[in-house]
Amino acid sequence: MKVYLDNNATTMTAPEVVEEMLPFFSQMYGNPNSLHKFGTQTHPHISKAIDRIYTAINANDNDDVVITSCATESNNWVLKSVYNDKIKKGEKNHIVTTEVEHPSILSTCKWLEEQGVKVTYLPVNEEGVVEPHVVKSFITDKTALVSVMWANNETGMIFPVKEIAQICHEKGVLFHTDAVQAVGKIPVDVQNVRPDFMSFSAHKFHGPKGVGALYIRDSQALTPLLHGGEQMGGRRSGTLNVPGIIGMGKAIEMATEHLEETMAKVRAKRDRLEDALLEIIPDTFTVGSRDRRTPNTILISIRGVEGEGMLWDLNRYGIGASTGSACASEDLEANTVMLAIGADHELAHTGIRLSLSRYTTDEEIDYVIEHFKQAVDRLRAISSSYAKVQPTPGGETKECELH
Ligand SMILES: Cc1ncc(COP(=O)(O)O)c(C=O)c1O
Repeated sequence: MKVYLDNNATTMTAPEVVEEMLPFFSQMYGNPNSLHKFGTQTHPHISKAIDRIYTAINANDNDDVVITSCATESNNWVLKSVYNDKIKKGEKNHIVTTEVEHPSILSTCKWLEEQGVKVTYLPVNEEGVVEPHVVKSFITDKTALVSVMWANNETGMIFPVKEIAQICHEKGVLFHTDAVQAVGKIPVDVQNVRPDFMSFSAHKFHGPKGVGALYIRDSQALTPLLHGGEQMGGRRSGTLNVPGIIGMGKAIEMATEHLEETMAKVRAKRDRLEDALLEIIPDTFTVGSRDRRTPNTILISIRGVEGEGMLWDLNRYGIGASTGSACASEDLEANTVMLAIGADHELAHTGIRLSLSRYTTDEEIDYVIEHFKQAVDRLRAISSSYAKVQPTPGGETKECELH
């Protein structure tokens, strides 16, 4: 059996999405900018896809949604434009973000620091979440932008973005949120939360890879990302990725139209898996309380078991999981989110992320429960560190405690 539990890294493109995209490769392949029928016949399809995206996040006609190639691009664009528009002109010199953002934010911030920008990386609490009062305390009159993710990719923890947005608006500071792990998993309503900018990505909700978006409140100014043929209102020139846009439109509609029902089913499977693992494997814990996590995610720590070793064993059973951000999974570094929430170095190497999707079945969950335990037993039997730490006869299992 093969079981894919790495849906926070990427998802299967839904068959219905592929079906809607296909005609735009070999039949309706015209350039939407061309004046002939080959080009113009794509217009209603593109408009429909963009409408679907607006509807899914509740954007209104004054807002703008620019299609990009991925959320990494959207994140880079916002940070670098704010640097260009506000900081280089000398008005402001400070950006606030968190210690647990995706590398596409953190690496861009490191680069901005090299350009002389002051960046504050906010600490998180023991559940891996930044609290609004902490954000407030670090905003100064030099702060140009606050960038805080909507949900964390490794723990699934949901951040209080509505409160943070409100604080930013009161202080006259721009607010960006990376909603890559939120869209399609929890309700994302830009009128309710009111971010100035929001990044998201199609391949995380069963759309194609290579298509992302940046939501821009009230179509406010931002340095164009690509200069050229004036596509995307001149904000990001370049021939449109028509199949990708069509695919993103279909995928976001499918992911959001029955969100509550679909996610209730995912949550039930996730909880069953989590309960079973915590019950049958001693000395394990999961990070963050379930009701504040995206419904599909578990970050589980198994004392004495190196995350990477566990991944290999799971892989032998046909189970795909992760030790954290896919972009960083080739180096054997400790899980940065676990370090940020106070885990010691040894413990931070034991995290395994299991992320389900709406396609995960009950049979797959049964299979994972059975083989996860076998892998842990084998690895613990050869682990010198587990023999040393094994503290409590019968072991200890719990949700979210790291002290
Ligand atoms: C929270 C978060 N932000 C950004 C990204 C980057 O998305 P993309 O692959 O579209 O560049 C990811 C992907 O793992 C993510 O989880």
